[in-house]
Amino acid sequence: MDVIFLGPPGAGKGTQAQILEKIHGLHQLSTGDMLRKNRMEGTELGKLAQSYMDRGDLVPDDIIIAVVEKELERLPGALFDGFPRTVPQAEALDKLLHRKNRPYTVILFDVGEHLIRERLIGRWVNPKTGRVFHERFSPPPDGKIDTDGTPLIQREDDKPEAVRHRLDVYRKQTEPLIAYYGDARRGRLVKVDATESVENVSKVIAHALGFQDVAATQ
Ligand code: AP5
Ligand code: MG
Repeated sequence: MDVIFLGPPGAGKGTQAQILEKIHGLHQLSTGDMLRKNRMEGTELGKLAQSYMDRGDLVPDDIIIAVVEKELERLPGALFDGFPRTVPQAEALDKLLHRKNRPYTVILFDVGEHLIRERLIGRWVNPKTGRVFHERFSPPPDGKIDTDGTPLIQREDDKPEAVRHRLDVYRKQTEPLIAYYGDARRGRLVKVDATESVENVSKVIAHALGFQDVAATQ
């Protein structure tokens, strides 16, 4: 099964991807997490991506498309989290999936900017695994150390200035994908109210993908 998560920064894509992976075995393919891992490991890709990411700009299409293409070779299905983010990326993914005869569903996370800021400013992440917490909505463990012993961090691009810029970038470069996927000849597009609690959003997504209630089985 191939699923694309589309929505602004802080909409809850990573949170829901991790739940679907854990409960239903979908494979989360988060380009943001992949880039952050490369940065931690000091690879060429990580060095290249660093300045774009800290400013809240997108990493160039050709680099991201090559990374995803390589990953897809070994995956029979994926939950795309944070990819595609531009029309050229979407066209490239269509080509790759079409060649493999793989239809997909797009889940659009619908949430306003006020809530996004609140979610991003209170977010804590495990830099090794990408696991996400929130000071109020999904509190991290005491001492902000994850169960695997990794100290949680706040992302550089969750600072107010970078958040503002990421929202601008989303409006200009990623929002056009809503119309792109709205074309019925492409994948099925399902809009989800992402202002609801994590559990309620999970239920709606699970239902849209034809799974049993995700939250109830946790
Ligand atoms: P990426 O890591 O993809 O960031 P993003 O799209 O900006 O999304 P976020 O991870 O910030 O938000 P999310 O929707 O995953 O929300 P989360 O679940 O964490 O990309 C980072 C950078 O990498 C980009 O800026 C770019 O530079 C580069 N990049 C990546 N992909 C690229 C691409 N394809 N092309 C080019 N460049 C690329 O939730 C947020 C917070 O809210 C958490 O604290 C969570 O606990 C909380 N929360 C979640 N859901 C709920 C809920 N329902 N109720 C209450 N709180 C909630
Ligand atoms: Mg994320």
